[in-house]
Amino acid sequence: MKFFVDTAEIADIKSLAASGLLDGVTTNPSLIAKSGRQFKEVIKEICDIVPGPVSAEVASTDFENMMAEAKVLRPIAKNVTIKVPLTPDGLRACRALTDDGAMVNVTLCFSPAQALLAAKAGATFVSPFVGRLDDIGYDGMKLIADIVQIYKNYPFKTEVLVASVRHPIHVVEAAKIGAHVATLPPPVLRSLFNHPLTEKGLANFVADWKKTGQSII
Ligand code: E4P
Repeated sequence: MKFFVDTAEIADIKSLAASGLLDGVTTNPSLIAKSGRQFKEVIKEICDIVPGPVSAEVASTDFENMMAEAKVLRPIAKNVTIKVPLTPDGLRACRALTDDGAMVNVTLCFSPAQALLAAKAGATFVSPFVGRLDDIGYDGMKLIADIVQIYKNYPFKTEVLVASVRHPIHVVEAAKIGAHVATLPPPVLRSLFNHPLTEKGLANFVADWKKTGQSII
């Protein structure tokens, strides 16, 4: 499973990239607004840090303006992935951009039927939002299982990018289902390391090593 980080905060991206565990980055207009920074400048900086796909979302909702915005975003770096909404215009833009050689992430996917459309439109990634479905009493992970099953029935190349991830169980369940990618908020990615027995075991080993009076180097 590939790990993307879902943030526009450069400090977080730098530290997670240094861990060697990061395969890409996703941003959205809300994350850019939260960063308080200029969109194109932030995307350029992220692309310089992470060589994998970096999602930059269009702001317009009509085909012509999405294409015009993609034309500005694509030259920022080779790894820019144009993020478009799962709407008729968004999927039209997805097809046009994919045919022109761009990577495209189709976002705001909430149903298997929508995911089927995204794959048919040639999306590089489809982003089903598990947390937002859970929030309204639906089973977000069931959507991931349905999409993975549907995609296995056909030679689609679209990767399932699990989005709106809220906790480690989302990540583990998505990996068990076989989703290709999960995009994680930095705290969720860091929380994957945690286990009380690891912390306790390490504290014991460190204490016992001190008792030996030895040094390895
Ligand atoms: C990622 O591409 C999505 O925009 C993001 O995961 C949405 O997460 P949220 O539901 O926590 O805002």
